[in-house]
Amino acid sequence: MDRRLEGRVALVTGGTSGLGQACADRFRSEGATVVTLDISKGADHVVDVRDEAAVQAAVDAVVAEHGRLDVVVNSAGVPGGGPVHLVALDDFERVIGVNLTGTFLVSKHALRHMLGQRSGSIINIASIEGIEGTEGGSSYNASKGGVVLLTKNMAVDYGAAGIRVNAICPGFIDTPMFRGVMDSEGMTTHKETYRKQHKLQRFGRPDEIAGAAYFLASDDSSFVTGHALVVDGGFTAGMRAGIMEGMGL
Ligand SMILES: NC(=O)c1ccc[n+]([C@@H]2O[C@H](COP(=O)([O-])OP(=O)(O)OC[C@H]3O[C@@H](n4cnc5c(N)ncnc54)[C@H](O)[C@@H]3O)[C@@H](O)[C@H]2O)c1
Repeated sequence: MDRRLEGRVALVTGGTSGLGQACADRFRSEGATVVTLDISKGADHVVDVRDEAAVQAAVDAVVAEHGRLDVVVNSAGVPGGGPVHLVALDDFERVIGVNLTGTFLVSKHALRHMLGQRSGSIINIASIEGIEGTEGGSSYNASKGGVVLLTKNMAVDYGAAGIRVNAICPGFIDTPMFRGVMDSEGMTTHKETYRKQHKLQRFGRPDEIAGAAYFLASDDSSFVTGHALVVDGGFTAGMRAGIMEGMGL
């Protein structure tokens, strides 16, 4: 098999669960050396992405051990939200802190090494909820919208140094986070509506996001930077009211 990430070193935040874990598995199968960073036990570096000193120490340790850093996937994230008038300030700040500030901090310290190499690929897991509003999205959508624009701005700033920065905007993907939200009280009755908004009529699988991350990590995407790649089974393609069902579609 052609292992196209052979010799590459990848750091994956949120790498012990869901999309991060799927990316780590896919990168390993393509020959990469993968280091995970997560707040949960089982990660190579047990770190809170909001803790700048700990993030810097972990990133520096990866480079000290493996000699370089080629790929970063920022997948650590938390759900949260509600209509704005009901959202507590500390909860808003928690969601922004992990999803946006965490992405900023890990990127910041990875970039220092990538600048020395004059190469690298940063892949930020944003969301379709970072490019459009959804009911009760508030903090989560604000954090992911911030990730999309942080991605584009880093692509502007670091392209001349040979560093590519892209985002992936997944639809709803079956992970522990997804189950935590969709199976919570008040949401289960709406789960079917969300499923049908995906024009492929199903939720996504983590490996389908890992495939997109692999593309962005590999040389197949060598001319792609500043892009927010939607991988959503058609969720954002447009509204479907069911009119075509009468025509057998
Ligand atoms: N599952 C979906 O439907 C979906 C859709 C769009 C975007 N996303 C995004 O994808 C990313 C991964 O989500 P997932 O569905 O795999 O969720 P998940 O809960 O399975 O994984 C998230 C991981 O992030 C880690 N994490 C949480 N807070 C952290 C912190 N402060 N520091 C370090 N690690 C921390 C968790 O321990 C966990 O391992 C998230 O950013 C999420 O917002 C998920």
